[in-house]
Amino acid sequence: MFAYRFTAVFVLAQLVLSQTIPTTVLQYKEWALIGCQGDSTAARALHHLVTGSSANMTVELCLDACAAGGFILGGLEFGHECYCGNALLYVYTVPQGNCVLPCAGNASELCGGSQALNLYQFADTPFTTGPPSIVFEYKNWVRWACINEGPPFPFGPLDPIAADDMTVGRCLDGCAAAGHNAAGLQDGQRCFCNSVVNEGDGQPNSWESTSEFECQKPCLDNATEICGGLLQQGGAIEGAISAYVTCDFASEC
Ligand SMILES: *[C@@H]1O[C@H](CO)[C@@H](O)[C@H](O)[C@H]1NC(C)=O
Ligand SMILES: *[C@@H]1O[C@H](CO)[C@@H](O)[C@H](O)[C@H]1NC(C)=O
Ligand SMILES: *[C@@H]1O[C@H](CO)[C@@H](O)[C@H](O)[C@H]1NC(C)=O
Repeated sequence: MFAYRFTAVFVLAQLVLSQTIPTTVLQYKEWALIGCQGDSTAARALHHLVTGSSANMTVELCLDACAAGGFILGGLEFGHECYCGNALLYVYTVPQGNCVLPCAGNASELCGGSQALNLYQFADTPFTTGPPSIVFEYKNWVRWACINEGPPFPFGPLDPIAADDMTVGRCLDGCAAAGHNAAGLQDGQRCFCNSVVNEGDGQPNSWESTSEFECQKPCLDNATEICGGLLQQGGAIEGAISAYVTCDFASEC
């Protein structure tokens, strides 16, 4: 009887000792923890999802992948998801205690939680955060309106701008360098150009203004700036465009 009870206690003690208590990784290489940051499936805080390693996910694997992609922010969520970005697009506040899930690839460390990211910053590099606002003027450009998606922008900048590098300024510089006098940004990450003629009515051909509410997306490389919108309408994805023209076209700046 005594031996039996002793064995039970011994087994219990072994169980307690062998159980790993996951901890938050505070620092890895040049990455430092910012904290537990909320996320939303509807509008992701970090844009770039790292795919293909969820079964092995660790803090190290995620942050190495983000560094390899040249990103300055990295975050782990739900135990096995890894996101990277250059800007914190949406800020959702959650209790620090929401990042409680062990990493799928290493139960000794924490990999965020449900709709909660363990967020890391690379080498103290400054980054922007939302919410974004309209850039009304930039160099020789003025913002025209938030317009409906249509066929008005057939061209791109000569040097394509990577989605994760998108800002209003880079798009307008790119369209200017390509010799265009109109530019549009969409979905935080796309830049279009066109050459428009002022035919007297002052309205570029086929541009149709829409509500500012439809242009609310932060630019992927500067979350303080609006880069158009993307709306889900009756199953179809349709994006409003933040449209810009040069001062020559607008005849005022
Ligand atoms: C996980 O790691 C193992 C061993 O390194 C590898 O064989 C496997 O492909 C990895 N799985 C994923 C999903 O990356
Ligand atoms: C698992 O994570 C812990 C804590 O971060 C670390 O010390 C350990 O080296 C990791 N194990 C492996 C196999 O990566
Ligand atoms: C982000 O955009 C704002 C507004 O256009 C600008 O003032 C700021 O310098 C930009 N920040 C970075 C890091 O590019």
